[in-house]
Amino acid sequence: MYELIEKLVNVYGAAGRESAVADTLETLLKGHVDDMRRDAMGNLIVQKRGSDPQGKRVMLSAHMDHIGFVVVAVEKEGFLRVMPVGGVGVESGRTRHVYFQHGVHGVIVQQPVPQGETPAMRHLFIDIGAASDEEALARVSLGDVAVYANDCFRLGEHRVAAPAMDDRVACALLVSVLLALDQPRHTVIGVFSTQEEVGCRGAKTAAYAVEPDVGIALDVTAHGDTPETKLPAVKLGQGAAVKIMDRGSISNPEVVQELLAAGERAGVKTQREVLPFGGTDAGAMQLTRSGVRVGTVSIPCRYVHSACEVIDLRDVEAARALLLEYLTSF
Ligand code: CO
Ligand code: ZN
Repeated sequence: MYELIEKLVNVYGAAGRESAVADTLETLLKGHVDDMRRDAMGNLIVQKRGSDPQGKRVMLSAHMDHIGFVVVAVEKEGFLRVMPVGGVGVESGRTRHVYFQHGVHGVIVQQPVPQGETPAMRHLFIDIGAASDEEALARVSLGDVAVYANDCFRLGEHRVAAPAMDDRVACALLVSVLLALDQPRHTVIGVFSTQEEVGCRGAKTAAYAVEPDVGIALDVTAHGDTPETKLPAVKLGQGAAVKIMDRGSISNPEVVQELLAAGERAGVKTQREVLPFGGTDAGAMQLTRSGVRVGTVSIPCRYVHSACEVIDLRDVEAARALLLEYLTSF
């Protein structure tokens, strides 16, 4: 699982610019699914046909996109001004290594904040080593998006830190579930969605096309196990989190029960997750057509939306076992 995660976190894929991630996933899944296509939003949609013609359609969605910084202006000294793409914090954008799709690297820096002002995006700039606006514009264009540079490493025995863990860890999980699924009774549609970080836009159109009976989002969730953070009551290493609700969706209670029961049958640890903020592709799926029963299986993650998002590999394995049991047991 580590190798798969490492491979996927190291691919450039800001929101709206996910094609390299989709290319990588396509290579991994080619020959292992019944069909595979991309839609106008850039979603990669793959399918494993169920053996039962009366079977259900289950959509599993993991988003490919990653938060970033879009260039909005260039100073005459060559520094780039930026706006956020998705929920990227000013705090975590201090003096970090970033890079652009076409390979230009930079350092994102916070300039001194004038007294009385709170740190904001307007205080950040990217230094790409250019001495003038002309030199900068020869290497980047307005609208180019920088993301935190690749830096995937092991943390202790079971944990891994990297930017883009949200949500490539779930892309890796979904790939490994699809590869392991053998002749499912129900049709399983894997959606690697786009633009989740700016409002679950890819999942919205994908769910409309897929017409699922059940939609399960696979995503990271926040942690409540560092000294000053107690909510959500979710801990790394304590198993897959089954979401009860967040700001974007209230999971269908039966789906929650089925997921928890599947975890129990699979013999893995699960946690009940109530997240006071945030949302997943489940929020978009549930409001598709005349409504869809949804749930979310989450991977607990520390420091979400920073350059060092930390997960525990045991939780990913637990989620994998839970999903395989769930998909073959009803
Ligand atoms: Co996110
Ligand atoms: Zn996410």
